[in-house]
Amino acid sequence: VERKDFIYEGKAKQVYSTTDENLVIIHYKDDATAGNGAKKGTIENKGILNNKITAMLFKMLEKNGIKTHLVDVLNDRDQLCQKVKIFPLEVIVRNVIAGSMAARVGIPEGTKPSNTIFEICYKNDAYGDPLINDHHAVALGLCTYEELAEIYRITGQINNLLKDAFDKIGITLVDFKIEFGKNSKGEILLADEITPDTCRLWDKETGKKLDKDRFRRDLGGIEEAYIEVLKRLGA
Ligand code: C5P
Repeated sequence: VERKDFIYEGKAKQVYSTTDENLVIIHYKDDATAGNGAKKGTIENKGILNNKITAMLFKMLEKNGIKTHLVDVLNDRDQLCQKVKIFPLEVIVRNVIAGSMAARVGIPEGTKPSNTIFEICYKNDAYGDPLINDHHAVALGLCTYEELAEIYRITGQINNLLKDAFDKIGITLVDFKIEFGKNSKGEILLADEITPDTCRLWDKETGKKLDKDRFRRDLGGIEEAYIEVLKRLGA
């Protein structure tokens, strides 16, 4: 499979078509943004680290029955992936309260809720990726109720698998964001990435943040934190 045309550029990745109409190449960049693009920067080697971290986690999930878009890692920064039509939804899971939820409802960061919290946001930069509910999502034509039910079911499985995997390496999976897409066969696949850009990861012993909050909150040691996550995953 050969790389063909540039299709799309997001904040952290680029997408290229290939000579196979069902496959794309996803290129991981070092660009970092926060606050819906309000803060911009680069994190040295982030693309290389996130390409590897996503691949390790997606392979672990695949082994446990989760269908993902990942086909192959081509090199340091490029993945071969199934072409999917992305649902314009950010699916967020919270095992511990932090970030925007802590701010929105006035619960201190670090509080453990009695139940796992699922949120969905409408992927729309112009409107700042607003938090919506199931009925908004269907009314906006983003997905059907049936697709949402399937997405929540898979998301619950992914959360259990990820929580366990991180727990084993001394990390609390506080929260994370995932995205789903549909391939040409109509299958719903986990797409995008799972990385310290898209998760909150706290060291179980010290509480040290091993994720993009180091960039968002100017804590320094960003690249080191991402390297630490990759190392603990067994790379
Ligand atoms: O900011 P908030 O607390 O809503 O983020 C929840 C989780 O979703 C965090 O792990 C964050 O990194 C992730 N997220 C993301 N992309 C966004 C918004 C949030 O990966 N656009």
